Amino acid sequence: MLNHRLILDIIKPEKFVKTAIQFLQKHAKDKKVFCALSGGIDSSATYLLLKKAKINTIPVFIDHGLMRIIKGVEEREYIKKLFPDLRVIDIRNDFLPKIYGESDAEEKRKLFKAAYSDIISKIIQEENCDLLADGTILPDIEESFGVKITDLKETMSLEEEKELMEKHIEGFVKSQHNVEIEYDVMATIQPVASLTKHQVREILKNFNMPQELIYRKAFPGPALAARIVGPVTEENLIFEKNVHDLIESSVENYYQEKYGKTMIINNDGEQEPFQVFAAISEDVLNRRVTGLVDGKRIYELPLCEKGDWDYKRLIEKASGLEGYARILYELGSNPKGKYDVLIRSINSKDARTATVTELPIELLKELTQKLLKFTQTKNVYFDVTPKPPATIEYV
Ligand code: XMP
Repeated sequence: MLNHRLILDIIKPEKFVKTAIQFLQKHAKDKKVFCALSGGIDSSATYLLLKKAKINTIPVFIDHGLMRIIKGVEEREYIKKLFPDLRVIDIRNDFLPKIYGESDAEEKRKLFKAAYSDIISKIIQEENCDLLADGTILPDIEESFGVKITDLKETMSLEEEKELMEKHIEGFVKSQHNVEIEYDVMATIQPVASLTKHQVREILKNFNMPQELIYRKAFPGPALAARIVGPVTEENLIFEKNVHDLIESSVENYYQEKYGKTMIINNDGEQEPFQVFAAISEDVLNRRVTGLVDGKRIYELPLCEKGDWDYKRLIEKASGLEGYARILYELGSNPKGKYDVLIRSINSKDARTATVTELPIELLKELTQKLLKFTQTKNVYFDVTPKPPATIEYV
C-alpha cells in the first residue's frame, strides 16, 4: 500500500485549494475513494476538497459511542446535518463492551485503531474502493514519524515509512489511530497533510462553511476514552459526556458573548481556546497522568494547589514543575461525590505546545457550581499546566 500526501511549504487558501484539487485528480481521478469523517475540521476539509475535485467518494462516520455532545447535539447528528450524504455506521453495541474496563492509555488507542480499521476494511471491500482519503494533518505526521513533513516524499510505501520511523524513533511522541495501518486499497490519499489546524480553518472559511465548524475544537481520535483517566465504564462515560458538554459549551458561550465567536486568535497568535473540555477520574491525585519532558511522554502524579486564585503565580509554578505531571488548582468539592472533574482549557497554534487559557475566576466558580450540581462530582480542579511540561490530554 502506498501513501500519497500533498506536501507543500507555503500555503495561501485559494492557491492551496487549486493545488489540492490537482493533487486529488492526479491520484484519484476515475477511482473510488473511501473517506472517514469524524465531525472534526480536518476530515471535513478533506471531504470538501474531494467533492470540489469531483472525486467519486463514499463518506462515512463511525459512531463508536464515545463521541462528544456539544450543546446537547451528538456528533453524529451534527455531522449528518452538515453533510447529508454521509453514511453513519453504528458500532456502539460492538465496540463499547470491548473498551469497558480498559485503563491503559496506549491499549485504549490500540482498541480504537483496531475498531476503525476493521470497519473501514469492511466497507472498502464491500464498495470496492481503490483509495482511502483521510484528514491527517501536519502535527500528526511529525509526531508519529519524528521527522519534518518535508523529509517525506509525496508517495511512499508503508515499508519505506517504517524504515524512516525506525531511524527516527527518538522523535516519536505517541501512536496515532490513523497512521501506520495497512488497508486493502492501492493507496491512502492525504490532501491536508501539510496543514496546521489554523490553516485547515482558513480552508473551511474559503469554502464558506458555518462558523460552528470553522471553530470546532479539536477532539482526539480515541475520543472520550482519552478524557476518562483509568478504566472506561458505562456509568462514567455518561457522566463524562454530560460534564464535557457543560464545560465546552459554557466556555464557547462565554467567548461568543465576549468576542462574537467561540475562538479567537490571541496576541501570541494562538487559537484561544484551542481546546476546552472536562476530563474525569476517580481520585486523580493518586493517578499517574501524562506529562511531557524533553519531547517524551512521562507518567507522574498531579500536584494539588489550593488557596487564593493567582493565575500568573500558578502558571509560573506549573511551568517549572518537576517530579509531578501537572498542577491542579482546586475550585470546589463535595466529599460525597465519586469523580474528580478536571477543567482543561488551553490555547495553542498546533497542539504541540499550549498555554493555559486565562479564564476569569468568576467563570471558573460558576462552572464549579454547575458541576457540583451533579451528585457524582467530587473535587473540581482547573488544570494550570502549560504544554510542556504537561500534555493537553491526560492519557
Ligand atoms: P497531547 O495530549 O499529546 O495532545 O498534548 C496533542 C493533540 O493531539 C490530540 N490527541 C490525540 N489525537 N489520537 C488523536 O487522534 C490520540 O491518541 C491523541 N491523543 C491526543 C489532543 O486532543 C491534542 O489536540
